[in-house]
Amino acid sequence: MPDGAASRDWTSELSVVSDSFESGRGLPPACYTDPAFHAAEIDRIFRREWLCLGREDEVSGPGDYLSLDLLGDPLVMLRDKDGVLRVLSRVCRHRSMPVIKGRGNTNTLLCPYHHWTYGLDGRLVGAPEMGKTPGFDAKAICLPEIRHEVWEGFVFVNFDSDAPPLGPQLRGVSRLLANYRLSELRTARSLPFDIECRWNWKLMCDNFIEPYHHVGVHLKSLEPSLPARLSEIVESDGPWTMVHMRYRKGRSPEEAPDPDAPALPPFPGADPLQRRTFTLLHIFPNLLVSFFTDHMQFYRLFPEGPDRVHMEKLFCYPPEAMALPQFEDAVEHNERSFIEFRDEDIDAVLVLQQAYRSRHAQPGVFSHLERPIWDFARWIADRMERA
Ligand code: FES
Ligand SMILES: [Fe+2]
Repeated sequence: MPDGAASRDWTSELSVVSDSFESGRGLPPACYTDPAFHAAEIDRIFRREWLCLGREDEVSGPGDYLSLDLLGDPLVMLRDKDGVLRVLSRVCRHRSMPVIKGRGNTNTLLCPYHHWTYGLDGRLVGAPEMGKTPGFDAKAICLPEIRHEVWEGFVFVNFDSDAPPLGPQLRGVSRLLANYRLSELRTARSLPFDIECRWNWKLMCDNFIEPYHHVGVHLKSLEPSLPARLSEIVESDGPWTMVHMRYRKGRSPEEAPDPDAPALPPFPGADPLQRRTFTLLHIFPNLLVSFFTDHMQFYRLFPEGPDRVHMEKLFCYPPEAMALPQFEDAVEHNERSFIEFRDEDIDAVLVLQQAYRSRHAQPGVFSHLERPIWDFARWIADRMERA
């Protein structure tokens, strides 16, 4: 069947996901390649669900701002003069020029095209040569504000004003991760991908969350210390899935410190089990978080097309660690080792994106270690069918 066939019966194709993991399969490969499916999931998922934008402390002081493009929509996350976090459209209300770009600190949002000026609350405060325009009322003009919610320091937005709040849906995760004191973590580094990310956003999610591929893709790098078979899939009660990967005995960073790596202490509140666990968390649809024993990383991941995604990795640390003399070296080291493992994953997802176009591609039988992929597929299928 050709890509983009609008008449395609997705409901019947998605039935392969099934309501039970035992008989279930993953999403059909076309869900990762077909522009029509992608358009539908933007409409039914990304315009209705809570989407992670980043961390609250990326704009920590009054006037701090960060420009982001989400689903082709230019947005700005900022902290206003009173310390209130806001997410605004940065599309000028005059003739649509983005009023600001990049990141930094500012007192106002000054549109570069004709110098209309907005306050950090989005209100228009100045517009040259508009006095002769009949009916022009600056007070009535404001950059649209996007609904947002902060959960454990992560900023989420929702384009649907009727969507139920996010916090109650994530209570179970908050309980499981309480020891990490997530909301206190500070963002030390953000690393945009320096390569073209030519794969479907869900492919990244699937690859991120399942530990099974350690036996293949990461056989020599991760499997020796974090073997797939020692993984535990957490029972989920909401729009998320979580996996604990236990270090092989004697191989945790505390037990076997890397002589070439500057060591940071484990999370201050971590219990003995967490000190030898690497935890992966996927909050649907677009937040992928990894908990190392001493810091947290997450992806800023925005779909840009059926086979294109914006990806950036952010590194967050407990404030206690940031005060240590070896901190900067540790951050550098973590960045380098992330790139090493990332490249192993990217080699795989790039090839998969092509292979999913094969007429012989089909969702195969799952291993028990792939349960989180099925959880996500079930969540996607529910939303696509519900519409
Ligand atoms: S487009 Fe912004 S001032 Fe004209
Ligand atoms: Fe991987």
